[in-house]
Amino acid sequence: MTDTKTAVHSAWSSRFAFILAATGSAVGLGNIWKFPYITGENGGGAFVLVYLLCVLVIGIPIMIAETMLGRHSQKNPIDAMAYLTKEAQADSNWHYLGWMGVIAGLLILSYYSVIAGWATAYVLKAFTGSFYVDNPAEIKTLFDDFVASPVQLIFWHTLFMLATMLIVVRGVNNGLEKAVQYLMPVLFFLMLLLVGYAMTTGSYFQGLHFLFSPDFSKLTANAVLTAMGHAFFTLSLGMGAIMVYGSYLPKDVSIAKTAVLIAGADTVVALLAGIAIFPIVFANNLHPDSGPGLIFQTLPIAFGSMSGGWLVGILFFVMLVVAALTSSISLIEPAVAWLVESKGFTRERACVWSGLATWALGLGTVLSFNAWSEVKFFERTIFQLLDYLTANLMLPIGGFCIAIFAGWMMQQKHSIAELAMPNDLSYQVWKLLISYVAPAAVFFVFLHVIGVL
Ligand code: PFF
Repeated sequence: MTDTKTAVHSAWSSRFAFILAATGSAVGLGNIWKFPYITGENGGGAFVLVYLLCVLVIGIPIMIAETMLGRHSQKNPIDAMAYLTKEAQADSNWHYLGWMGVIAGLLILSYYSVIAGWATAYVLKAFTGSFYVDNPAEIKTLFDDFVASPVQLIFWHTLFMLATMLIVVRGVNNGLEKAVQYLMPVLFFLMLLLVGYAMTTGSYFQGLHFLFSPDFSKLTANAVLTAMGHAFFTLSLGMGAIMVYGSYLPKDVSIAKTAVLIAGADTVVALLAGIAIFPIVFANNLHPDSGPGLIFQTLPIAFGSMSGGWLVGILFFVMLVVAALTSSISLIEPAVAWLVESKGFTRERACVWSGLATWALGLGTVLSFNAWSEVKFFERTIFQLLDYLTANLMLPIGGFCIAIFAGWMMQQKHSIAELAMPNDLSYQVWKLLISYVAPAAVFFVFLHVIGVL
């Protein structure tokens, strides 16, 4: 990334750099940790189908819109929304959208960092071989003992937050482009290896059946909301992360093609994770609805029983941490970019303040797995509440507003010029999806959840 135009606002060196960074943001814990466990909790196939549909008709159009708003404004989400609102002569309340995004990013990072801390701890466990026990029950006990210790969780959460801040201080490009460039192929290869292992478990088809044969009787209104929320979460949409990355994107790049590519890669990684994990779950009589610990209780079984598994295990958890890092920096970047560009903070100060606030908030999530596991709000622990609030409410609401803004508020001449679609038909399809289909879908899911429909 090189500085252009203004002293503080940066730009990607190429389309490829943007693809790498945005894919790095999209592919993370959401694909490998969250997708399998929420699929397990929500009954499998029907949930997966709704998620895929949401990626297609809501996620991709909104990803195009969010990138476009970022590039058109060349600003961080808060200043971008203020600028775009003025340009469109829209109601000034629209600029709160930028604020909601920045806050959502910090809230997500507060628990994201705790879970990424687990993955970091598992790198060490993979090195020392401490989880290579034969018995799945012992692997579960190991995990349960680990999350029962606030001291350990705080240590790993702190370490991960420090790593995130160190990268963000240097600017999102230095090192990031390269990290993602190597990460993606290695991660992909490891996922294939795990799928290969899953084929040998004897429960491969049971796993596939669970993932891909929809049983709509298992689909509650909340499951639909979770699937839709996850489409936003996994594609990093609805909070300005993709907007801020889009603002660094050179003008001559096709936004639509790029968005399809990123969404495609993201979805493939998630599906591979599911295909790898569920056969292991069934072969070992584990429960698909084991919750956030699912991958930590299943994958060590695979590493323990495949030949050379110790190396695969180390590589896997290292890759998971790197994938989490390339996402976490995009969660904090909107806040940092705003503090720097609008409030005159140095990058260092901006990182320290937003990092500290996020770290402190993360302690709530740490304790929700042990000392405060009985502290509930609306029947949810702090972690569950933060996850629900951000992924199921804030991101879809943010995405809904982005769709309405891009479809109805922004002048058509600007969206046509930014998107520069190869033909009028593709522009019209996008316009239809962003103006009607995506917002209506989000709206209906909400109505369904509150019981109006
Ligand atoms: N997309 C990331 C993942 O799947 O792990 C998480 C995430 C990053 C969500 C950035 C939202 C965001 F803005």
